[in-house]
Amino acid sequence: MAVRPVRIYGDPVLRQKAKDVTSFDDSLRALVADLFDTMKAYNGVGLAANQVGVAQRVFVVEVPIEGGGSERIVAVNPTLDARTGRESGEEGCLSMPGLYEDITRATALRLRALDAHGQPFERHVEGFLARAIQHEADHLEGVLFTDRVSPLKQQFLRRQLDALARGEVPEGYHPGTGEGRSG
Ligand code: NI
Repeated sequence: MAVRPVRIYGDPVLRQKAKDVTSFDDSLRALVADLFDTMKAYNGVGLAANQVGVAQRVFVVEVPIEGGGSERIVAVNPTLDARTGRESGEEGCLSMPGLYEDITRATALRLRALDAHGQPFERHVEGFLARAIQHEADHLEGVLFTDRVSPLKQQFLRRQLDALARGEVPEGYHPGTGEGRSG
């Protein structure tokens, strides 16, 4: 298990559409373990495989639950449907350090996916967990949360995004800066 470097905005792998996983072997399980290690090291709540340079349809999410503890999900080849409700909430992304924006997402949805051993599962999720899952599923399509803000807002973000793409990561960016709300 290891912390892998998180790819930053401007890296083409973040715009790649990830491919379905076809072998459920030890290297997949090592990838999943590394995604959790990396997500935790960066204090994130979710991480998609292409954020560590692997363009495969895998993401992990771990969000706190009411009353303590946390909810962990490993999703391989996920599909989302049965979306209901819409609500706005703040998001950040470990691949876009320093940016936080309100994004409108479905309030609840159904996640269908395989686990790291290829076993199918289905979950109805809502609230912050549903938000985190939608953010990570977007990554697998090459979509970033800033694609979902208004065109006007995107113009305001342009300078920060261009700076990230030039490799100008904000001063002090290091593992632990996800502030518990980035994925
Ligand atoms: Ni993200």
